Amino acid sequence: MSIVEVKTGVPYSIVIEHGNIKKAGEHIRPLTKAVRAVIVSDTNVAPLYADTVRASLEENGFEVSEFVFEAGEASKRLSAVEKMYGSFFENKITRTDIIVAIGGGVTGDMAGFAAATYLRGIDFVQIPTSLLAQVDSSVGGKTAVDMPFGKNLVGAFRQPRIVLIDPDTLDTLPDKFFRDGLGEVVKYGCIRSRELFEMLENENAADIIDEIIYRCVSIKRDVVERDEFDTGERAILNFGHTFGHAIEKLGDYSGYTHGEAVAAGAAVITRISEKRGLTEKGTYKRLEALLKKYGLPTDSPYGISEICDAARGDKKSSGRSISLIILRSIGECFISKMPVDEMTDFASV
Ligand SMILES: NC(=O)c1ccc[n+]([C@@H]2O[C@H](COP(=O)([O-])OP(=O)(O)OC[C@H]3O[C@@H](n4cnc5c(N)ncnc54)[C@H](O)[C@@H]3O)[C@@H](O)[C@H]2O)c1
Ligand SMILES: [Zn+2]
Repeated sequence: MSIVEVKTGVPYSIVIEHGNIKKAGEHIRPLTKAVRAVIVSDTNVAPLYADTVRASLEENGFEVSEFVFEAGEASKRLSAVEKMYGSFFENKITRTDIIVAIGGGVTGDMAGFAAATYLRGIDFVQIPTSLLAQVDSSVGGKTAVDMPFGKNLVGAFRQPRIVLIDPDTLDTLPDKFFRDGLGEVVKYGCIRSRELFEMLENENAADIIDEIIYRCVSIKRDVVERDEFDTGERAILNFGHTFGHAIEKLGDYSGYTHGEAVAAGAAVITRISEKRGLTEKGTYKRLEALLKKYGLPTDSPYGISEICDAARGDKKSSGRSISLIILRSIGECFISKMPVDEMTDFASV
């Protein structure tokens, strides 16, 4: 078992342990006086894990209800959250009760947003079951829903009371989602850990997944602790994302998955920054080889000016400048702010 402590406004622990979900109730009981717990999960994950978590919660004295929604990003809408509120009300969930989110990033983002807003805020717990959620979205307290005019545009900061990561749940995760999560894992190696990057090069990620999860959440913890509300350093977690989001958007969210788009975005920006002399020579080649090893894309199906046009609409472009995250070398990055109208010039090299 490994535990990573997060010292945000409300501190919490991330517990990484095989078989963790069978002990969910034991972990949660000391943190709350809640009488009721409501499990939030999707139609793929609930049949696999909800009963196990429910049994442990009941053994620890919680009265348990469940809200299960249709799996997939299309559910991450206010309309689904409204249904969730209705279910909480019917099941008499009060301010002092607790939400237990079991699933991928969609579940965590939706349940977290409901936790931030229902009765002006109640406690919640993250039990992430996708690789992406285990290494990234379950930590840091960003919650959100999608709007017809863009992804993640309405949300709140709300830290969970605890994050319970059970690597065994990855056994049932379809391969394509495992690969998707690896896109974010490679990102962590690129921005902060040459050692992690080299582990990914030298070993097979699936064989060392516990170590990978531990390293990724530790990096995210460090960044989030220093910039909980995303006003500075936290931007480095967006490495590969400015172009990645643009690539997702250009594919109408049905082309590359998020992790694939991040991989392509990371490759594209690094090829450019290396040509511009901002990145140590040879970095792009190594990144390209690693992405290929894990079946991730190394290029974008769209041209650079198309990507830049789409990126300009990205919400992370604050005012008239855009923050690009650039690698100095493997494991080291910096934030480069540039006027949006200079981006296409910069990228056309
Ligand atoms: N809050 C943040 O900081 C943050 C960070 C990154 C991404 N996100 C969000 O996360 C979402 C993407 O997360 P995701 O890729 O986990 O999507 P997801 O929640 O849709 O999960 C992917 C798929 O895997 C299934 N699944 C999950 N765990 C499983 C398991 N153990 N066994 C079998 N099937 C399983 C799900 O049902 C779904 O079909 C996006 O909405 C994105 O915006 C949020
Ligand atoms: Zn991401």
